[in-house]
Amino acid sequence: MLSAETKSIIKATVPVLEEHGTAITTVFYKNMFEAHPELLNIFNHANQAKGRQQAALANTVYAAAVHIDNLEAILPAVVQIANKHVSLGIKPEHYPIVGEYLLKAIKEVLGDAATDDIINAWAEAYGVIADAFIGVEKDMYEKVESQENGWKFFKDFIVARKEKESGNITSFYLKPAEGSNVPAYQPGQYISVRMSIPGEKYTMIRQYSLSQASKEDEFRISVKREADNDPNGRVSVYLHEEVNVGDRLEVSAPAGEFVLDTEKKSPVAFVSGGVGITPMMSMFETVATMTPERPTAFLHAARNESFHAFDQDIRKYTASMDNATYKTLYSDEPSGYITRELLAEYVDVSGEVYVCGPVPFMEAMIQELRALGMNEDQIHFEFFGPAVALQTV
Ligand SMILES: Cc1cc2nc3c(=O)[nH]c(=O)nc-3n(C[C@H](O)[C@H](O)[C@H](O)COP(=O)(O)OP(=O)(O)OC[C@H]3O[C@@H](n4cnc5c(N)ncnc54)[C@H](O)[C@@H]3O)c2cc1C
Ligand code: HEM
Repeated sequence: MLSAETKSIIKATVPVLEEHGTAITTVFYKNMFEAHPELLNIFNHANQAKGRQQAALANTVYAAAVHIDNLEAILPAVVQIANKHVSLGIKPEHYPIVGEYLLKAIKEVLGDAATDDIINAWAEAYGVIADAFIGVEKDMYEKVESQENGWKFFKDFIVARKEKESGNITSFYLKPAEGSNVPAYQPGQYISVRMSIPGEKYTMIRQYSLSQASKEDEFRISVKREADNDPNGRVSVYLHEEVNVGDRLEVSAPAGEFVLDTEKKSPVAFVSGGVGITPMMSMFETVATMTPERPTAFLHAARNESFHAFDQDIRKYTASMDNATYKTLYSDEPSGYITRELLAEYVDVSGEVYVCGPVPFMEAMIQELRALGMNEDQIHFEFFGPAVALQTV
């Protein structure tokens, strides 16, 4: 364990590091990728460019350092990140590389203020934090590998069907190339897809929520194509335009903590914006088929009718359930936003609510749900990118 002196140095320097947090992680990533370009096969370049990943890593290291006496306190955050790491195939041997370049970046940004004592204290603290992640991830890898039809890292899948769901969302049905079944997963979980795109130097990994209830022999993901005039959207555009039935994709085992508690019988509501509908489809189909008596509401915000996916499926399930309501709003129309009044009408505040969509959408929805009296334990949400601090007050 860390000495009392090391702990006091860490606690005294957290505010200084926090102040320079993003500067430090920006330098860290730049130097690390120069020395280890092979890591560009794992990291999402768009998230780097937008700065979301830098902020996420810095915030976590500082949060962990503050709780260095009691890392249990940040266990929920560790588990969420570890799920992402496991889905990406992060290995124990990656941790010393991150540690080395993080410490070098602290030194570079703080200059003389970063004394040897400070650097040594942070090296020790990083070691403790890294061990906590490595331990949690080891257990997760063992679990994904030992489950029925499970595997570790990436495995080849074949596109069995490709179906258009709306103007910009297409579903891909994926089956293991060696003909096995797939593991059962919890509704709301995601997989990572790793692609080698012609003309791209590095492989690209993206996460996609599983968009149907767990099936024995296939996964389904539903991918929104990024805009035509967007120079990026590398993976989603490639999937839409170039990936067809019979093609191979590398896929990691289902992961993620944004999952439906299927044991609960209390009312449940799904609130989605745009392609944030995908994990809801898996959850909603699960409720419809396993507990159709559960009071359920589905509220969805789409741009307009042509960008509205899964409408017929949701209507079909709603009709087959005992007590389910469904409403979609089109933001292209004047009254096309999900308001507090609409949430009050549809969402039973004594139950659970699942929210997924663009960050501003989630902020607005969570703010209104809290105003209606729901507490943190009842509100579950998922980011389609690195987690960011939500502005909900
Ligand atoms: C847990 C999870 C679940 C997800 N589930 C789904 C799902 O079910 N369906 C789905 O469609 N997506 C889902 N996503 C999002 C998905 O992983 C991808 O992020 C998405 O498909 C975009 O990837 P891309 O390669 O097409 O775009 P990218 O090339 O990664 O670009 C993404 C965005 O970043 C912007 N960007 C890129 N480069 C830059 C730059 N240099 N400067 C500024 N901005 C830039 C682009 O304009 C674009 O809007 C999920 C993500 C997570 C984390
Ligand atoms: C203690 C050390 C580490 C901490 C605190 C940490 C923290 C984080 C956090 C907070 C996220 C964002 C998770 C999310 O919101 O979804 C993340 C994602 C990620 N981490 Fe780590 N991480 C650590 C070590 C590593 C290592 C060793 C690697 C591999 C070299 C790595 C690779 C990644 C990648 C590739 C992502 C996803 C990035 C993206 O999608 O843009 N991390 N990590």
